[in-house]
Amino acid sequence: MADAAITVEGAEKRYGGKKALNGLDLTVARGTVHGVLGPNGAGKTTLVRILSTLLRPDAGRIEVAGHDVVREAYAVRLRIGLLGQHAALDEELGGRQNLELFGRLHHLGARRARARAGELLERFGLADTGRKAVRQYSGGMRRRLDLAASLITEPEVLFLDEPTTGLDPRGRAEVWDSVRSLVGGGTTVLLTTQYLEEADQLADRISVVDSGRVIAEGTADELKSETGGDRVDVVLRDAGQLGAAVALLPLTGVTVDPDRRLLSAPVTDRMEALSGVVRALQEAGIEAEDVALRRPTLDEVFLHLTGDDRRVKEAA
Ligand SMILES: Nc1ncnc2c1ncn2[C@@H]1O[C@H](COP(=O)(O)OP(=O)(O)OP(=O)(O)O)[C@@H](O)[C@H]1O
Ligand SMILES: [Mg+2]
Repeated sequence: MADAAITVEGAEKRYGGKKALNGLDLTVARGTVHGVLGPNGAGKTTLVRILSTLLRPDAGRIEVAGHDVVREAYAVRLRIGLLGQHAALDEELGGRQNLELFGRLHHLGARRARARAGELLERFGLADTGRKAVRQYSGGMRRRLDLAASLITEPEVLFLDEPTTGLDPRGRAEVWDSVRSLVGGGTTVLLTTQYLEEADQLADRISVVDSGRVIAEGTADELKSETGGDRVDVVLRDAGQLGAAVALLPLTGVTVDPDRRLLSAPVTDRMEALSGVVRALQEAGIEAEDVALRRPTLDEVFLHLTGDDRRVKEAA
């Protein structure tokens, strides 16, 4: 793609005998937000570290902002910002001092660093608290300050590694608003997350990563319809019969939620699935409170793709 901000072809990285990246491919168009969604250990941080030149890949062609991350690492560094999984703020300094320090570390002159710190505090709603020590900040404020620090050099491409992990819903919403405000300015954002909702809210396109490779890619809607379309939900009167129902119903990829006495599964033919379920339950004498068809959530798509729904079924 000519206007790609990020191109990854066949990226590989091992730690000892363990393959953290195993032939990962990814293309991100300029000015878009791309979500990389994956469970713990999928390889998200490894990918971000390679893209931001902190780690060398073992194999693959990887370009960021038009430059090769290995051969032109310095050119890449000038054009990127990174918000790591763990914050890099000085707890004792105020928000403003942290940003100015960051600016100086990135060779902005004192005046430029001061001006830029002021702009960013304003932009992320931190202007009033700029003098307060960071250790007194809430989780959401810290993350917004982190984000401000990653933007000090006005990067073309910004990497956000799990930007809202550990935040409460309010902190998460604040960070989401800040990320949205960036995109209008033309910055390309690659965001890793374990939260489906985050990818759904922020990303134009999503790559689902598992065991170091991309197992699905598309918009949130495409991913939802790709994985079987509709689902059937069955609520039983007696949670104790869930295991028996899972065993006898003509369904695959069943997930079970005992607290809600619910089992759920993807279906291809809506009407046939519905009548098949009702008939099988009647024949077995299992009483259902409700049987209904609905669209899948992105969470279910993710569990389905990463194979976790099979584990759920075995556990039932
Ligand atoms: N420095 C390291 N040495 C050895 N193994 C590592 C190292 N860093 C990561 N790994 C392994 O590589 C795999 C990918 O790790 P990575 O940190 O990229 O996953 P992740 O998707 O970021 O996970 P999380 O959601 O927990 O942050 C994991 O199996 C991890 O244990
Ligand atoms: Mg990680």
